Amino acid sequence: MQEIHFFILLTTLVTYSWADVNQNKFPLCKICACTVDNNETTANVTCVKPIEYEIFSDYFWFSNATNTSIAYNSITINYNKFIDFTKIFPTSNLTYLNLANNNIFNISDSIFKNLQNMVVLILSYNDLEIIHPDAFRGLYLEESLMPLRSLKELRLDHNKLHSLNQDIFEHTTNIEILDLSFNPLEVIDHHTLLAIDNLIYLKELYLQYTMISGLPDYLLHTPKFIRVLDLSGNQEITKIPQTLSDAKKLERLFLNNTGFTNLTKENGFPLMPNLKVLHLCRNEHLHVIDRYALCGLGNLTELIMSDNIDLVTIADLAFACRSEVGGGVVYPPIKKLHIGNNKLAYLDSEIIARWDGLSELDIRENPWTCECENQWLIDDLMPIYLKIDETMAKQVTCAAPVEMKSLTFYDIYMKKSHMRCLDIYGHRPERDGILLVGLLTGLLIAIPAILLIIFAYQKRWFSIIGVFDKSPASYSRRFYSTSPTEDF
Ligand SMILES: *[C@@H]1O[C@H](CO)[C@@H](O)[C@H](O)[C@H]1NC(C)=O
Ligand SMILES: *[C@@H]1O[C@H](CO)[C@@H](O)[C@H](O)[C@H]1NC(C)=O
Ligand SMILES: *[C@@H]1O[C@H](CO)[C@@H](O)[C@H](O)[C@H]1NC(C)=O
Repeated sequence: MQEIHFFILLTTLVTYSWADVNQNKFPLCKICACTVDNNETTANVTCVKPIEYEIFSDYFWFSNATNTSIAYNSITINYNKFIDFTKIFPTSNLTYLNLANNNIFNISDSIFKNLQNMVVLILSYNDLEIIHPDAFRGLYLEESLMPLRSLKELRLDHNKLHSLNQDIFEHTTNIEILDLSFNPLEVIDHHTLLAIDNLIYLKELYLQYTMISGLPDYLLHTPKFIRVLDLSGNQEITKIPQTLSDAKKLERLFLNNTGFTNLTKENGFPLMPNLKVLHLCRNEHLHVIDRYALCGLGNLTELIMSDNIDLVTIADLAFACRSEVGGGVVYPPIKKLHIGNNKLAYLDSEIIARWDGLSELDIRENPWTCECENQWLIDDLMPIYLKIDETMAKQVTCAAPVEMKSLTFYDIYMKKSHMRCLDIYGHRPERDGILLVGLLTGLLIAIPAILLIIFAYQKRWFSIIGVFDKSPASYSRRFYSTSPTEDF
């Protein structure tokens, strides 16, 4: 018992002194939460208590003992009320600064200029409506326009920006990731366009939920290296922006929750030969994906197209392309296909070239009709699906006809059952007993009648009368039939 007490005391002492050392080394750790890296050379600081009045004092940033700035690696300050941000950050080598959720309404000029190693700046969830062009101005550097030279990632999402000043990124031309999502942009106006035009090295652009209805023609002209584009949540986008074809390096495109109706070859995707990942989820109005609609996407490997509550049809060849040479059909090398939770009742086997080439497949939560059009799903797809993902494969169920409703595809597969076929009117023969009897009676009468007609035809009864057949061939037949050489 005593040993345990002693042990607890010792641990407390060790922890305390450890904390004490770090607090002396990294003064911000006295007022904020901290994690220190293994060598105790840098600290990551998180402040969620009000510290806006003390944080800028030199004491927290500069060590007189070593005559250097304190080695913070990252600083996160949330839930403070900076509102009008006028204080200039002291010199620091920090690489990450997170100022989200601080009610920031205004940023004065050059407040980040002493953070020349800052790679990531997060200003999400504030009240920014306007950002002055010199807010991101840095320090003088030869042959450069007072840059914030290390900044690569800037998050301005969840603010109140309608537009960007055209010079806003003049000092931050190395930005690779720009997040403008959840701002009420409504339109990417000329100034915003010019602003983004400064970002030659832009790789990722986030524009989800910005109420935009499209992309201006030359938006993707200058940022040649853009790899990721998120346009989700813009219900006003009802057409695939054809300017996407300018983004030659685009690899990932997200179009969740947008306003598309039907995707066809004509309004479908432009040529995007490098696109690998496409998300098309939660598009309420997406009804049909027609043949060749995804034809431009020759290298697509991941297609996530789930939760589209009205998607009833994916046409055969919807993802394929007609080859220009030879006229054959070319399929993209899709490896991951998610088409769960749509409104699909049937699936064409021709939408994918090789189902056994898939590494991920989700077709669950669709109102599958368990009838003979879908028999291939049981016979051909189930064995493959069980290999790809046994758990998911066993979760696919029938939604119709009523007799099959509770069955899983797996049940049917194991029983090696054959699913019934609808007749051409979509009736269910066994339920329409009367119709069936009627049909049978009809057939019983029809068969002798047809035989009689055939017999009559062979005997040339009709051509003699000359009523039924008036084609030139029949004339010649009649002509020949009267010729003596005909062997009858
Ligand atoms: C502290 O460092 C600066 C430059 O880094 C230097 O100019 C200054 O003389 C140093 N002061 C002391 C007391 O060493
Ligand atoms: C979408 O396609 C379906 C079936 O082809 C058609 O009935 C519907 O009118 C189309 N919707 C629009 C908005 O074009
Ligand atoms: C798109 O929506 C799906 C679910 O509907 C989700 O799994 C996926 O992460 C979303 N994509 C993005 C980029 O948010």
